[in-house]
Amino acid sequence: MPRRPSLSPLIVANWKMQLGVAESAQQATALKEQRRGLKSRSQVVICPSFLSLAGVKKALRGSDMELGAQDVFWDDRGAYTGEVSPINLRELGVEYVIIGHSERRQLLGETDSMIARKIISALGHGLTPILCVGETAHERNDGRQEMVVVRQLTNALKSAPPPAGHGRLYVAYEPIWAIGTGEPASAEQALAMNDVIRQALLDLYSQPQVETSFRTLYGGSVNPGNVCDYVGPKAFHGALVGTASLEPATFVTLINNIDQGFSVKRL
Ligand code: PGA
Repeated sequence: MPRRPSLSPLIVANWKMQLGVAESAQQATALKEQRRGLKSRSQVVICPSFLSLAGVKKALRGSDMELGAQDVFWDDRGAYTGEVSPINLRELGVEYVIIGHSERRQLLGETDSMIARKIISALGHGLTPILCVGETAHERNDGRQEMVVVRQLTNALKSAPPPAGHGRLYVAYEPIWAIGTGEPASAEQALAMNDVIRQALLDLYSQPQVETSFRTLYGGSVNPGNVCDYVGPKAFHGALVGTASLEPATFVTLINNIDQGFSVKRL
């Protein structure tokens, strides 16, 4: 499937552990049906559970939507009970991988150094990483949000080469207090962090590398009504969507709104 030009917004559906295996395939089929015939500027990535990847891949056949995983292990193979190899993901047709989601950091003890290894592994296997960063409410109340995000980003990327060739790395700013709460960050808060992230990337890589290979996403209670506050040519390059990606009609409306918002803002 040819990639759209680099200006295309990226919209990532994170289905988490919300849907069954058969249900995920049905959902993907419903999305494909609802998007049939629509001219979209957006690149859409569906991230179902590991067990649902094969069924969703099959269901998406013939559509322009791509497949993502919600995590990846850092080694290719070995005695790692329960882990999932990047090689297996590639075998299933996975193109993107979410790394360091706050639910994994908080509930499963994922550390910055584990995340750094996963990023290197994903890049090495041609998977496009979606690195999640974001502060807790407590950290924001203390005024430490920028420090926390820069630390997470720097620790995750300091040993990583810039993505090779046409490869990309997406940094998703997801304030933890905005995830699944229906209380998104304000556009002002989110865009301020977008600048911080860009500066942190410039501290690690050259300007041409950052401009070519890095993009940012916003995530945290994104819905069809607010998505255009975050995504645009001078704002985030796309969105990471949880709850609002679970209902096909809502998700399709969200994508349509970005498409329209993007073209309006670009005039
Ligand atoms: P949400 O989830 O859209 O339900 O807030 C976003 C995420 O966790 O990636």
